[in-house]
Formats: sequence, C-alpha cells, structure tokens
Amino acid sequence: TSTEPLVLSSRSPNNSVAILTLNRPKALNALSSPLFDQLNAELEKADEDDSVRAIVITGSEKAFAAGADIKEMKDKEFAEVYKRNFLGTWTKIKDIRKPIVGAVSGFALGGGCELAMSLDLLICNSRAVFAQPEITLGIIPGAGGTQRLTGLIGKARAMDMVLTGRKIDGKTAEAWGLVSRCVGDEENVVEEAVKVGETIASFGRVAVQAGKEAVNASLELPLDQGLRLERRLFQSLFATQDQKEGMGAFAEKRKPTWGDK
Ligand code: HXC
Repeated sequence: TSTEPLVLSSRSPNNSVAILTLNRPKALNALSSPLFDQLNAELEKADEDDSVRAIVITGSEKAFAAGADIKEMKDKEFAEVYKRNFLGTWTKIKDIRKPIVGAVSGFALGGGCELAMSLDLLICNSRAVFAQPEITLGIIPGAGGTQRLTGLIGKARAMDMVLTGRKIDGKTAEAWGLVSRCVGDEENVVEEAVKVGETIASFGRVAVQAGKEAVNASLELPLDQGLRLERRLFQSLFATQDQKEGMGAFAEKRKPTWGDK
C-alpha cells in the first residue's frame, strides 16, 4: 500500500547493527526522491542512536536498486533539475560517521550501483549485477558512476561500463575491486553483511570512526596531506581510554572492554 515505508528499519540479533531495507519491490527499488529522503532520514537516525554501531543497507533478492526512478525523471527539464539541484541529497550519505555495509543481491544498476559505491564496504552474491546503463537512456551517471567507479576499477574498465552499459556479475565485481567480498550461492548476503557489521560493532566507536574518516580522506587528499591527517588521527587516539584498554588488554592477555571514549 502507499503507506508502506519505502525503507524498512530493523536490527541485528544483538541490536548493534541497524539494517535498512529498500522497500519498493514492484519497481525493483527504483530510487525515487521520496525513497532517497526516507533513506537519508533513517541513516541520520541510526547515526545519532548510540545503540547502533554499524549500518547495513540492502534491497531484495532480485534488486538492490535498479537505478534512479526513470519515470520520475523522464519529463524533467534542465532549468528545473539545475535550480532544485536534483539528486543533490544523494551526497548526504558522505556525512554519516558510522560505517555502512552494503548487501547487494540482484540488480545494482545506474543510481543503484552508485548508491552501493557510496557505502563503506560492499558484500554481494554471485547473482548481483552491476552496471551503469545510463548511456542507453541518453544520459551519463550522475552520482559517482564516472568518479568513484573509475577509482575502484580503473579507467579502462570504467570506460567500458560507462560507454557500453556493460553488465558485470558479482564475481567479476569482486575480481575488479568494486566490492569487498562476493559470497557463494549457498550463503545469505544480508547475513554476511550483518556479520561484518557485528565485527565492526565489536570494536571501539572512536577508533572505528577515525578509520572510516582516514580511508575516505585518501580519496580526496594528495598523499602528503592524507598521510598527515592519518598520523594526526592515529596520534589523537592516544588520548582515548580505548587505546589504553586495547593495548593494556593485549599485554595482560585478556579481552578488551571498549568504553567508546
Ligand atoms: C523506474 C523501474 C526502474 C527504474 C525498473 N522499473 N527499473 N521504474 N525506474 N530505474 C520498473 C519497471 O518499469 C517495471 O514497472 C518494474 O520495475 C519491473 O521491471 P521490469 O523491467 O518489468 O523487470 P525485468 O524485465 O526483470 O527487467 C529488470 C531490469 C529493467 C533489467 C532491471 O527493469 C531495467 O532495465 N530497468 C532500468 C535500469 C536502468 O536503466 N537504470 C538506470 C536508471 S538511470 P511496471 O510498472 O512496468 O511493472 C539512473 C541515473 C542515476 O539511475 C543518476 C544518479 C544521480
């Protein structure tokens, strides 16, 4: 029904991982503006909730997301999309401080592939299909499909995908470095992603946030500035109790208990 949320929110068994499920199955999770607004709202909520330590975003078995909503876009004019900064809210994901794991099964096309690439870590299965088919619609990718994709898989493969719309499967995506891990057919991709989220959730939040911040900085900063930022973040962690706890626990041969400070 129309009152059904476009993004469902649940938790992992131990409550530490928020699981956000794109929920427009009939449209293969096409990323309409209302869906993206709900996703941003759920992400902000999870980022502010102290009981959440990692976030998983997934779709259905058939589709992670088949792209931006073509029916919503088709009659739009330049002046309108420019003045309203159409799809500008997609970049809000960059401001989420907690790690986000994507769990991709089925189609991750166009904006769906771009959404996936904007997450921190991706798990897919062999039924996953990644592509940037915008060229078949008379447009080009608009949310990272030429920028992040090129960084992940290199110019030659990115040109192939962007200019021909070539589809690649999950195993190829893993081999090319588009995803972190591709699980086999017998495994459940959401369970795998939640496991990864729970592993991250078992570590101190301050160090986890610093790790995410430092890796992301490498995409934007020249090497000398990136190395300086990394070293400063590293040094600043010596001001945390978790550093004392983590190293103390190692020396005392016991398990650390993180205080997140
Ligand atoms: C709107 C979509 C959609 C989309 C699928 N649907 N993708 N609606 N936007 N991106 C709808 C179909 O219209 C259809 O609605 C229903 O979902 C089921 O899709 P079918 O085509 O019947 O399913 P199937 O035959 O299995 O084919 C699956 C598919 C195909 C190969 C994924 O749907 C497809 O090619 N979709 C478009 C993929 C695409 O071009 N994505 C890029 C979009 S551009 P009805 O009402 O008929 O049942 C983009 C730009 C991003 O993403 C820019 C970001 C800034």
